[in-house]
Amino acid sequence: MWRSGELLPWEEARIHVNAVGHASAAAVFEGIKAYRAADGERLLLFRLREHLERLRTSARICRLDLPYSTDEMVDAVVRTIRANGYRDDAYIRPWAFPEGIIREQMVPAGARCELVVDTWPFDSGLKRTQGCRAAVSSWLRISDASTPPRVKAFSNYHNGRLALMEARENGHDWPILLNERHKVTEGAAACLALVRDGVVITPSLTSGVLDSITRSTALTLLRELGVPVEEREVDRTELYLADELFFMGTAWEILPVTSIDGLPVGTGVPGPVTGRLEAAYTRLVRGESGEHRDWFTELHI
Ligand SMILES: Cc1ncc(COP(=O)(O)O)c(C=O)c1O
Repeated sequence: MWRSGELLPWEEARIHVNAVGHASAAAVFEGIKAYRAADGERLLLFRLREHLERLRTSARICRLDLPYSTDEMVDAVVRTIRANGYRDDAYIRPWAFPEGIIREQMVPAGARCELVVDTWPFDSGLKRTQGCRAAVSSWLRISDASTPPRVKAFSNYHNGRLALMEARENGHDWPILLNERHKVTEGAAACLALVRDGVVITPSLTSGVLDSITRSTALTLLRELGVPVEEREVDRTELYLADELFFMGTAWEILPVTSIDGLPVGTGVPGPVTGRLEAAYTRLVRGESGEHRDWFTELHI
């Protein structure tokens, strides 16, 4: 792992028990993927810089002092990937949390952060052929007025966890959360889009969602494929009328949804627009399309 400027063995990255609560409550983080290129010669870190910029955004909103430039953080990630000798897909988790042991009740504004970078092997789901079953949760999504979903903070994931447990208990795979205006937001760890009459519709960034990098990638690819895209408020009932539905996220990539609240989505199998998008996304992240070169940090392996 990389911790505050140095590489160290994973077992030695310790923290005092007194710091755990504050560190986890106030911590902000990122999830990034490194894909093995189709030529087998390179690892492609996908939109690393954008993810690290978003870490900076999260720290700013939470008033944490992140004492590293984006270039320094890029360097930290690259060093960690190299030190682990990855030759295949990997997941990268940088996270920042207030330094030291804080014995006050709350973390004060401007608290200086430690930054750590952890990584682990990760199997891509892009070869999957099946969709998942989703259900609208009875838990509402956290809101910009309380615990902003625009921030990627560990504490936000309590909301998604409650919704996930409910979905699993009721025989579904993943939840979809509504906001306080009962409009559609996102899943527990991914954004969402529906397809109706050939148009892809996704909740706007002010609906209560993370400003997802996969969402922005997918919208770019769809426009390039000539598919019309709308970003707007989405009603729950639109989910039931959708021809296709899919999640988008770094970890979930493009994940088709084939049932919603027990109703089949379209014909109940992954649809053609989702299929075209997933194929374009796979070609992109594996470096086969050769497009959007500025989205990649390349490492020779
Ligand atoms: C709540 C939530 N929404 C959306 C996403 C997708 O964001 P990205 O595509 O940047 O990974 C994530 C991913 O971690 C998430 O946790």
